Amino acid sequence: MDKKLIVANWKNHPQTLAESEAILDSTDEFLGSLSETEKFSLIFCPPFVFLEEVGKILKTSHLIHQSELGAQDISIDDNAALTGEISGPMLQKLDVRYVIVGHSERRWKLDESSETVNKKLKAALRNELVPIVCLGEKIRDENFKKFLYDQTIKTFDGLSLDEVERCLVAYEPVWAISTTLGARPDTPQSALESVGIIRDVLISRYSLVASRYLYGGSVTSANAREFLGDEGFDGVLVGSASVKKEEFIKILTIAGEL
Ligand code: PGA
Repeated sequence: MDKKLIVANWKNHPQTLAESEAILDSTDEFLGSLSETEKFSLIFCPPFVFLEEVGKILKTSHLIHQSELGAQDISIDDNAALTGEISGPMLQKLDVRYVIVGHSERRWKLDESSETVNKKLKAALRNELVPIVCLGEKIRDENFKKFLYDQTIKTFDGLSLDEVERCLVAYEPVWAISTTLGARPDTPQSALESVGIIRDVLISRYSLVASRYLYGGSVTSANAREFLGDEGFDGVLVGSASVKKEEFIKILTIAGEL
């Protein structure tokens, strides 16, 4: 089995650098206790304000062998004056390797369109970052397949095969994200059906044969084994459980056992 990826999307948590350090300390201690290292890789995506410090910590001790730094967003433009934005070159200078684009909280709560997501995706690729491209329907109704199809086309519009190949695709149905009212996790079986829709678009438009797919949406220690153990997924994107130290270690324990 290939090495699985566990992406920790901290969102706008924790509140302090000290709490961030505590999560990384406990992760480091756990990694040090593993007899077989590198069964899985970790990508930590902290809030911008902690990127630099988290990046330094990831270069130490056991974390250095198994973890990398990711950002949660990127500016559409590398140089233009855009108040509040963080550009690709800035991320590069902080040794950021991955960047989340198109997260549903940005799409739905901040009105980020697929056109803007597409520009951010291009900015990530231009700056040699690996985009973690989030896709997912808001409601699983009779139109969800068409929704996912259209969202995939618009999000990847204008990219070359080589560029699409460099992306990690995260299927994250909005209704499964823990902060959505009444959220419940998807099952691997139904999530794979959705991944199939995305994959079909990428094959038909870009002749893409190999790409990497993650699942995200209420991943916890209760369901991590199902998703990490399924060969249809290359890993998971973990939100709220990634800032709960004990729960996160439980997820890593499962990944270490696979
Ligand atoms: P969740 O978040 O694990 O809290 O559902 C996942 C995400 O929003 O990326």
